[in-house]
Amino acid sequence: MTTREIKKNIHWVGVVDWNIRDFHGYSTYKGTTYNSFLVMDEKIALVDTVKKPFKQELIDHIRELTDPEKIDYIIVNHVEMDHSGSLPDMIDLIKPEKIFCSPMGHKALLSHFHREDWPYEIVKSGDSISLGKKTVHFLETKMLHWPDSMFSYIPEDKLLISSDAFGQHWSTSERFDDEVDKPELMAHASKYYANILMIFSPNVRKLLEKVAEMGLEIDMIAPDHGLIWRENVGEILESYGRWARQEAKQKAVIVYDTMWKSTETMAKAIYKGLLEEGISIKMMDLKTNHRSDIVNEILDTKAVLFGSPTLNNGMLPSMADLLTYLKGLRPTGKIGAAFGSFGWSGEAVKHINGFMEKMKFDILDPGIKVKNVPIAEDLQKCVELGTKIGQAIKG
Ligand code: FEO
Repeated sequence: MTTREIKKNIHWVGVVDWNIRDFHGYSTYKGTTYNSFLVMDEKIALVDTVKKPFKQELIDHIRELTDPEKIDYIIVNHVEMDHSGSLPDMIDLIKPEKIFCSPMGHKALLSHFHREDWPYEIVKSGDSISLGKKTVHFLETKMLHWPDSMFSYIPEDKLLISSDAFGQHWSTSERFDDEVDKPELMAHASKYYANILMIFSPNVRKLLEKVAEMGLEIDMIAPDHGLIWRENVGEILESYGRWARQEAKQKAVIVYDTMWKSTETMAKAIYKGLLEEGISIKMMDLKTNHRSDIVNEILDTKAVLFGSPTLNNGMLPSMADLLTYLKGLRPTGKIGAAFGSFGWSGEAVKHINGFMEKMKFDILDPGIKVKNVPIAEDLQKCVELGTKIGQAIKG
């Protein structure tokens, strides 16, 4: 069997995408999964589908358990194509009695598939349906991470099916959190949060408060990507709280690109100043680190130092890429500084400062510019910048 029973009569029927390496700008260098769940009761419900190229695998998985034609309901927790790409074909095959979706999900389904004739049943927060012995309660989770997103909660099984929230992009043959290496699992979960949910941190905070108020009993969280949480439910909820508050460690990220090593030499001098203050530091060269891994390191860091030489009156394209991506994710509460070498004009530091102002970074220093190749005096200023930032991190 390729499928897996996750609770009595509730089965994982999703697919593993071992080969995806880019998820619109996010480096999925260990692949991902598209999780789909079959709830078997007097009524049979399929919760979410999979990306279109994997449609046949989904059908084969369902056939391990039942004829697809016997499915009564399809629940669409989220309309993004990685979960709905195969929906039209599945609807043609299943001919469901009802398709449950949120109000915004209804609009999104219409604008994606242009099918007025599907048997939509719009559900809001607080609505529930009975499948027989099991019930499914719906909770709209607008902007986590799309307007249409919602959770499905099955109280009889204490199971929260959480759409994209609590996911990880990691392809594995294992299905549960306690079957894989935990530090690696948490690293994937953190990267997923940083790249997909950081922008919506205020919504995550409100949602966690609401779930606590509702007193939902949850002993399993099944997201639409990656491993299912059963051993570490408390820890992933606690981690989401910490990430949503953007709590920072005494840590700095030095991210830079360099042409002829001058900016890199400056980065190493800044590193020295920070190190002497006892700060934990990540040095990340943009040539060898993907933007999505850098953003993951920035999630829990207090300070970011951005280094770029000047090219054509601006910064290097790699730094512009990172700053554009990072600004969209709205990190909060960071200290920042810029540095870089230049040949004759030296605008890179000014442009980086402009990005940091828009991101509301606390810019503690106007930044350091060095003409061509740094001398000992320049490098001493870089060490002092590291010291200054290190002291600010420690408060
Ligand atoms: Fe996994 Fe927002 O789709």
